[in-house]
Amino acid sequence: MKILVTGGLGFIGSHTVVELQNEGYEVVIIDDCSNSSEKVLEGITSITGKTPLFEKIDLKEKSKVEDFFKRHADVKGVIHFAASKAVGESVEKPLLYYENNIGTLVYLLKELAAKNKASFIFSSSCTVYGQADEMPITESAPVKQAESPYGNTKQMGEEIIADTCKVNENLNAIALRYFNPMGAHPSVMIGELPIGVPQNLVPFITQTGAGLREQLSVFGDDYPTPDGTCVRDYIYVVDLAKAHVLALKRLLEGDNSDNYDVFNVGTGKGSTVLEVIKSFEKVSGKKLNYKIVDRREGDITTAYADTTKANEVLGWKSQYSLDEAMKSAWDWEQKIRS
Ligand SMILES: NC(=O)c1ccc[n+]([C@@H]2O[C@H](COP(=O)([O-])OP(=O)(O)OC[C@H]3O[C@@H](n4cnc5c(N)ncnc54)[C@H](O)[C@@H]3O)[C@@H](O)[C@H]2O)c1
Repeated sequence: MKILVTGGLGFIGSHTVVELQNEGYEVVIIDDCSNSSEKVLEGITSITGKTPLFEKIDLKEKSKVEDFFKRHADVKGVIHFAASKAVGESVEKPLLYYENNIGTLVYLLKELAAKNKASFIFSSSCTVYGQADEMPITESAPVKQAESPYGNTKQMGEEIIADTCKVNENLNAIALRYFNPMGAHPSVMIGELPIGVPQNLVPFITQTGAGLREQLSVFGDDYPTPDGTCVRDYIYVVDLAKAHVLALKRLLEGDNSDNYDVFNVGTGKGSTVLEVIKSFEKVSGKKLNYKIVDRREGDITTAYADTTKANEVLGWKSQYSLDEAMKSAWDWEQKIRS
C-alpha cells in the first residue's frame, strides 16, 4: 500500500518512514530539502534495506502537487510533516509560515477530497493548548489563542482539516498533537539535523556537550515547578513515529468512528529543564556548561500530556525513558561531529 510522507527527509518524517517501511508500506517521500538533505535517504536505506521513492517537490507549487497525484493515483494515505517550524522566524515572517504551512495543506486536502477514499495524518502540536489550566492535558482542554503565527498555523490547520472532513465522508483524518520530540534512531543512521542555532532544548544540550555551543541558557528558575525550571513532556522520536503508523492503520482499516479525530502524543510525564540536563550528564558522563538567566517571554510554565486516549484508542504507549532517548541523541551528536 502506497503512503505519501511529506517532509519525509526531516527529523520526525524520516523516523516515520523507517517505521512505515518496517510495517511493509511502500513509501513515497515529497521534500524540498529546505530543512533537510537528500543524504537522509541513505540513512533510511541503511536501516530498512529499502530506498523509499523520493520526489524533490516544493509543496507550495500547486501544479506540481496536482501532477504528483496524477502520477501516483494509488496513494492511499498521506502523513503530512512538511512545514516550517521555527517559532521566532514565524513572528518575523508570518506570510512565509501561512503560505508554507496552510497553503500546502490546502493543496494536499484538495487532492485527497477528490479521491474515493483517503487517509490523512497531520503533524499538530501541544502548542495549541498554550498554558493549559489543568495537568495532565487532555484532548478536550481548550485551544488557547496562539502565541505565534507558527502556533496559529497548527490551530488553523486542524480547523481546516475538520471543516474539510465534515463535508467529505471519503476523507478520514487524524491530527496528532506532539509534545516535545527528541532523540535519534538507535542505529544512529538518522536523527535531528538542526540548521543553525537549535530551537529545541535537547539538540542545544547535545551541541553544547559536543563543544559546538559554549553555554546553554536556562530561562528562569523561579517558576512554580519542583526545581523552578519549566516542565515539558519529552517524547522519543521512534515512539512518536510508531504513533503515526498506528493512527494511519486505524484510518486505513476503517476502525475510526469519526472521520476526524485528535490525539495527544507524549509520555504523560513532565520533566524540568534541570532534569533534562541531569539526564544528559548521566548518559554522557560530561558536565554541561549551563547558566540560569531571566525568564524568556512567551514561555509557558508546564505542559505534559494525558495520553489515555492514544493508549486506549490507538493501542499506543511510549516505550522509551528520557535517559534512553537522551542517550540516542548524544550518540547521534557524537556521530555527526566525528
Ligand atoms: N520537532 C518538533 O519539536 C515538533 C513539535 C510539534 C510539531 N512538529 C511538527 O512536526 C512536523 C515535522 O517536524 P520536524 O521536527 O520533523 O521538522 P523538519 O524541519 O525536520 O521536517 C520538515 C521537513 O519538511 C520539509 N519541507 C518544509 N517545507 C516544505 C515544502 N514547502 N515542500 C516540501 N517539503 C517541505 C523540510 O525540508 C523538512 O525536511 C512539522 O509540521 C512540525 O511543525 C514538530
